[in-house]
Amino acid sequence: MELLLLTAVFIAVAAAAETGPDSAKVVKLPPPTLDGSMSVEKCLAERRSVREYASQPLSLADVSQLLWAAYGVTVPLPNVPGVSGGLKTAPSAGALYPLELYLVAGDVTGLEPGIYRYRPEHHDLILVLAGDRRRALLGAALGQTAVRDAPASLVYSAVFSRNTVKYGTRGRERYVCMDLGHSAENVYLQCGSLGLGTCAIGAFHDDSLRLVVRMPKDEEPLYIMPIGRLPQRKGTGD
Ligand SMILES: Cc1cc2nc3c(=O)[nH]c(=O)nc-3n(C[C@H](O)[C@H](O)[C@H](O)COP(=O)(O)O)c2cc1C
Repeated sequence: MELLLLTAVFIAVAAAAETGPDSAKVVKLPPPTLDGSMSVEKCLAERRSVREYASQPLSLADVSQLLWAAYGVTVPLPNVPGVSGGLKTAPSAGALYPLELYLVAGDVTGLEPGIYRYRPEHHDLILVLAGDRRRALLGAALGQTAVRDAPASLVYSAVFSRNTVKYGTRGRERYVCMDLGHSAENVYLQCGSLGLGTCAIGAFHDDSLRLVVRMPKDEEPLYIMPIGRLPQRKGTGD
C-alpha cells in the first residue's frame, strides 16, 4: 500500500515537472490576415536565409501570422479526430499532420517571454515554461547566434508514429520531412511578405533541444527557425 502511494506521488511529481506549473496558461492569437501586400512571386524571388536581425521586437500579430502560415487551419474539421482541427496551410501525407510547433519567445510585444506550444485547432499558444530561454536555445543550436539574437524562434518537432502507423518506413524516411519542408517554406514566404527574416536550422543537439522546449518523449526535434526584423541596410538609412 505504502509502495503504491509512493509510486503515485512519484508519478504526480514527474508529471508536474514535465509539463510545468504554467501549462494551463493560454494565449489567444489574433486572427491571421488573408491579404498581404507582397506577391508570392516577389516573396519567392527575394527569399533568402537570414541570420542577423534588427534589435526590434516582433508583435503578437507577427507571431500569429507566422504560426498560421506554418500550420494554421484553413478548413476546420472539428469532429475529425487526428487532424488537430482540420486541413492546414501546408499539405500533409494522408492528412496525418505529424508536426508540432513551439515558440521560443524572447522579445514579442504583448507576450511574456517563454516557451509556448501552438495549438492549430484553437489558433492559440499554451505556455509550457515561463522565462527567456534564448541562451539555452543558443547552446542547443551549437552556438548559432541567430537563435540568441532573434526576438523569437519557432521549433518544429514531429510525432513520427502519426504517419508511420499508415506509411511505415516510407513515412519515416520521406513523408514526415516532406511535410516539414512544406511548412517551413510557408514560414520563409510569410516572413518575406512581413519584412521579416528567418533561417531553417537543422544543426543542433537533439537532446538539448528537447530539454529546452520540454518536448514530450514521443516527439523528435526537426528544425529551429529564428525570426526577426530585417536589419537596416548600412549607409541607406532605411
Ligand atoms: C535541411 C536544412 C538544414 C539547414 N541547417 C542550417 C543550419 O543549421 N544553420 C544555418 O545557418 N543554415 C541552415 N540551413 C540554411 C541553408 O544554409 C541555406 O538554405 C542555404 O545556404 C541556401 O541559402 P538560401 O536559403 O538563402 O537560399 C539549412 C537548410 C536546410 C534546407
